[in-house]
Amino acid sequence: MTPMTRTDEKTGGAADGFAENKAKNTVVIKLSRDDPDPEKLKYCAEVIKKGGLVCFPTETVYGLGANAFDSEAVKNIFIAKGRPADNPLIVHIAGYDMLNIICRGGEEQRKRIALLGNAYWPGPLTMIADRDPAVPDEVSCGLPTVGIRMPDNKIALELIRLSGVPIAAPSANLSGKPSPSKAEHVIKDLFGRVDVIIDGGDCRVGVESTVLDITGDVPAILRPGAVTLEDVIKVLGKGELPDWKKAPKKGETPRSPGMKYTHYSPDAEVRIYDGSDIGGIRAFIEKEAEKEAGNGKKVGIFTTKEGAGAYDEKRFTVVYAGTRDDLLTVTHLLYGALRDFDKKGVDVVLAEAFPQTGVGNALMNRLYRAAGGCVIDIGGN
Ligand code: TXA
Ligand code: MG
Repeated sequence: MTPMTRTDEKTGGAADGFAENKAKNTVVIKLSRDDPDPEKLKYCAEVIKKGGLVCFPTETVYGLGANAFDSEAVKNIFIAKGRPADNPLIVHIAGYDMLNIICRGGEEQRKRIALLGNAYWPGPLTMIADRDPAVPDEVSCGLPTVGIRMPDNKIALELIRLSGVPIAAPSANLSGKPSPSKAEHVIKDLFGRVDVIIDGGDCRVGVESTVLDITGDVPAILRPGAVTLEDVIKVLGKGELPDWKKAPKKGETPRSPGMKYTHYSPDAEVRIYDGSDIGGIRAFIEKEAEKEAGNGKKVGIFTTKEGAGAYDEKRFTVVYAGTRDDLLTVTHLLYGALRDFDKKGVDVVLAEAFPQTGVGNALMNRLYRAAGGCVIDIGGN
């Protein structure tokens, strides 16, 4: 399947195949997260049934959805977001009845889905399992597997239920941009490219789900998220988190195609500063910031409340994203902060590194990709 024609370096071969003369009359519908208007939801479900594109909130990030069994609608997802044609989509389900029509996994896979589903569904966990041939090739880009997730958001679950079909959905951003954790991010990226954008408020988690491959002997996390390696091991007794910094060797097929792209990038250049002494890191960043500002650059700094007083707020755009004591909050605020830096015209973002434990893996993974792998280790004392 090649819905795109031109190539684009940043997205690794995708292109913005979307023709401006095909701009859609996007309808923005505001819905309460806890008590969504059923009539408005029915309208959105009709759009899905007719092969249209609906952006909807989940607890992780917003999704850009279409009927997972409608190949044409699925192709339109790739066009709307300029997504590389070899990056498969996650299929969202509202209940276990939908599992049987998309998953062909044997006894072991089913057992793992039941155990993990019981613990973390609905929730921020995508499981990669064997695909039933009923799921079109376009969804999985020809892979024999399919990503499955039951999102923890009433609007999302009701939309899937009323549509009567599983919904295939990537994050609702233009390819290469940070995933949207607020409706305004979706509107900025996709207005005119989709039929409906549901505004259901801010996403609770704020980064994408954990992607866990359950097809192998040892279940492997292909993309870290709010469900951590420790969580997986607690339920299944085993699991691994392969080093996501390692790029696949030439000719080697990555296990999760999405991870090879320089995803999650804001327009600003991002650099991460790591080391064993946070005080030293802050002093180093402040000096770097002065240097960059001296070169005429507008500088942004990504820190937490513990960094208060370390940076010159009058000269630099400093974002205090929660506290180091609660990395889930920092993770939750990351994408919004990256988009805000762009909005403020920041040229270069200097970010403090975070410990890679628990959800810190998800945080550092997204920060690392936003930085295109640029980590400066300043050592320690
Ligand atoms: O939280 C989320 O996962 C959000 C919400 C909307 O559910 N969705 C999301 O989708 O982040 P997307 O398309 O932006 O990322 C899906 C990731 C990609 O890295 C993709 O390569 C991987 O999951 N993936 C999907 N199907 C796969 C498969 N069959 N095998 C390996 N990786 C797969
Ligand atoms: Mg995405």
